[in-house]
Order: sequence, then C-alpha cells, then structure tokens
Amino acid sequence: GLKITVIGGGSSYTPELIEGFIKRTAELPVEELYLVDIERGKEKLNITTELTKRMIAKVGLNTKVYQTLDRREAIKDSDFIITQIRVGGLKARASDERIPLKYNAIGQETTGAGGFAKALRTIPVILDICRDIEELAPKAWLINFTNPASIITEMVLRHTQVKVVGLCNVPIGMINNVAKILDVDSKRIRIDFAGLNHMVYGREIYLDGERVTSEVLTKLGEGASLTMKNIKDLQWDKDLIRSLGMLPCPYHRYFYMTDEMLEEEKNAGEGTRAEQVMEIEKELFKRYEDPNLQEKPPELEKRGGAYYSDAAVSLISAIYNDKGEIHTVNIRNNGAISGLADDVVVEVNAVVNREGLKPIAVGKLPIKIHGLVHAVKAYELLTVQAGISGDYEDALMALISHPLVPSIKAAKGILHDILYENKGYLPQF
Ligand code: NAD
Ligand code: G6P
Ligand code: MN
Repeated sequence: GLKITVIGGGSSYTPELIEGFIKRTAELPVEELYLVDIERGKEKLNITTELTKRMIAKVGLNTKVYQTLDRREAIKDSDFIITQIRVGGLKARASDERIPLKYNAIGQETTGAGGFAKALRTIPVILDICRDIEELAPKAWLINFTNPASIITEMVLRHTQVKVVGLCNVPIGMINNVAKILDVDSKRIRIDFAGLNHMVYGREIYLDGERVTSEVLTKLGEGASLTMKNIKDLQWDKDLIRSLGMLPCPYHRYFYMTDEMLEEEKNAGEGTRAEQVMEIEKELFKRYEDPNLQEKPPELEKRGGAYYSDAAVSLISAIYNDKGEIHTVNIRNNGAISGLADDVVVEVNAVVNREGLKPIAVGKLPIKIHGLVHAVKAYELLTVQAGISGDYEDALMALISHPLVPSIKAAKGILHDILYENKGYLPQF
C-alpha cells in the first residue's frame, strides 16, 4: 500500500483531498496517510484529522491516519507528498493583497504583486521541505499545490533533485465552466491548454471530439460566466474574446481588465479576499468540528480551490497505475511550447505514466499571447532568483518586470513594504 503525506494538513482543503482518495479506493490503496502541520496550525490539524478519520471510517476503509508536527517522520519513505501550505497564514495574505493597492498595483495573491511577497516567504520553506524529501524519500513524487504554484514548482526544479508536479484547479474549473456554458456533462469536454499557471489559455475546445471553440467563445462574449470563487465575475469584453480566438483563464482579467480589477480590489466592501476567507474558514471549521459530520461539506465550494482533489488524486492514480492519461500540469517545458526555454515550467497537457510526465507538443504560441506569457515567465524566473539569493537588486528587478507593476517608483514602494511587513518570514534577506 501507499504512504501519502500531506504537508499543511490543517488546511480546510484536506477533506477535499480525502474525498478524492475515498472516491478512488479501488484503484489507489492508501495504507498510511500522514497529515503534517506546524505548531501554529495544530488546532486546525486536530480538527481536519478527526474529520478525516470519520470520513474514512464511514466508508469502512482501513487506511491508517496519523497527525504530526514532525515533518521528517512523515516524509520518510512516502510515495507521494502533497504540499498545501500557507507561510504566514491569512494575516500575511491580507498584507500581500493590500500593499500593492497603495501603489496602484494589483494585489492578487498569486498573479499580482501580492504573489511576489507570497513567493519570497514560501521559497525557503519549500526548499527545506525538499531537502528532507531528497534525504528521506528520494523516490517520492511531490505534488505541489502551494502558490504561487508556477514559481514554487520552477524553484523546486531548478534548485533540488525532487520529482515535482505543480497543480492547480483552474484547468478543471475551466472544463466545468465550459460544460456549464454548453449544458453538457464535463466528461465530454476536452481543452488544449497551454501557457503558465494562472496564465493558461484554452487554445481549442472539443465536445465529444468535435471542435466547439467558436461556439463557446461566442457565448462567453455574450455574457456567459467563466470564473473562480475568488475572482470577481466581471463580464468578458466581446471584442477581446473574438480577437483572442482562445479561451482565457479567469485570472486573465487581471491583465486584460487591469483598471476595473484594481477598482474592484480597492473598493471591495467585504475586505480583501484574505479577510473574506477568514470568515469562510471560521464557518468551515465549525462545520468540520461537528462529530456527526462524516463527509466533505458543500460549504467548501465557497473556496476558490474547490474540486482540487479531482486534479490531485486522479493525477496520483494516473502515475501509480501507469494510466497514460492526459492531465493539465505544471512541468518542465522540454520543447512543448517552442520559443520558451526547455527548462522552464509551463502549464500544459501532459501524458502521465509511472515513469513520469511527458508534455504534449504545442508548437509556437500565437504572437498575440506570446509577449504576455514570456513577460510573466521572465518575472517568475527572476522571482525564483530573488527568493533564493535574498538580494535586494534581484528582488527589485523581479518586481519591476511584473507586467502589473506600473513603475519603478511603485516597485520600490511595494518592495520596501513587503520586506518590512514580512521580516519574520524572510531569512534569506
Ligand atoms: P491555510 O492558511 O489553511 O494553510 C494550510 C496549512 O499550512 C495551515 O494549517 C498552516 O498551519 C500550514 N502551514 C503553514 N506553514 C507550514 C509549514 N512550514 N509546514 C507545514 N504546514 C504549514 O491555507 P489554504 O487556504 O488551505 O491554502 C494552502 C495553500 O494552497 C496556499 O499556498 C494556497 O495558495 C494554495 N492553494 C492552491 C490552489 C491551486 O490551485 N494550486 C488552490 C487553492 C489554494
Ligand atoms: C483558485 C486557484 C488557487 C487560488 C485559490 C484561492 O482560484 O486556482 O490557486 O489561490 O483558488 O481561493 P481562496 O478561496 O483561498 O481565495
Ligand atoms: Mn491555482
């Protein structure tokens, strides 16, 4: 049987994952499940572990569930390790989201300059985790869910020996969204994805193998919804969608509707997303504590990461069972997108087997998206560099290279505030 370790086990997404494993018990024999957290997350970890045990008991499984603050004990000899941590918690997220707003920049915690702060805090921690994996479970697969997923996965591939796949629920979310737009079952939809995490495009959409791209784009231009719970559902511009000729991802709003999204962020009466999530989390954990609850409660759908278990656990099963299935993942480009270097991380469809993942060739990106994708990739690479070196100039260069940071003055202000607010979390600076 398998040993699976979840780092950040106190996350409210844990029941989501457990549901994914329960759905696939026939194909995925999990013998041991370790939920790991840190001192600060202990209370949450107690609650998610107890709920996990009830969920597993309900379906009569004999998976052994352990909770621990000893990461090394958990990692040792694991087959799969899932990282879903938030360094600094939601308090740090709120600060990430607010700082850029002062300088007229998008604060979003992955795509905006907020994501830069999150990356700087997270890189040293994931690096430490990877050192433990190299030593204690060198054959394990790391499924990284921790954001900014693109940058973190890029860092792991460049600076460690760990076998890593970066994962996001946006591609599955887009498939579900398209299915809804067409009013069909999502199993009938396929999308040719290409780009970067939170910067991915659906280049062609198929229903039962027939192209339906233009039909979907027309409906999108006419006001159909394409979003995630954490992104304001601003309507897409009809002419933009027509001239793009591809399906954007919900996060593209930050790039194509920057001024409107900035206004949204500045005027959000409900507070930043972090502040909203604090409330949602309180409710969620109250539900999780109910000793009669034995399954994932529907309230979890209020979180942007809903349904990520389908992505994570089906991927694990595809690797373990050597399925040859296609999954949308963040992996090394290896020529899939020509024009981008072979060694950078991209989000593309890939064939998944036991020996690993092979990206499906995409060819050149059309010139209309090439520039944006390359610019964001440059920002990501520079951010990895800064997160490792802890060098002020590296950090400034990364920030000013972000397409959503308007000027060097803004970049300096944002960087100053980030370094100040995150003092306790940036050992590399
Ligand atoms: P959360 O605040 O609940 O944090 C998860 C847990 O991580 C907490 O219990 C916390 O105590 C723990 N933690 C923090 N530092 C740790 C460390 N060094 N070692 C072990 N545990 C640690 O966060 P969340 O909202 O559940 O999100 C978790 C992560 O998943 C975030 O990085 C978030 O951005 C990411 N996420 C990714 C996607 C995606 O599409 N890839 C979707 C949703 C969330
Ligand atoms: C999804 C994304 C994640 C993101 C999360 C935010 O949109 O794929 O990468 O971080 O949801 O959800 P939250 O509920 O925390 O705002
Ligand atoms: Mn994501």
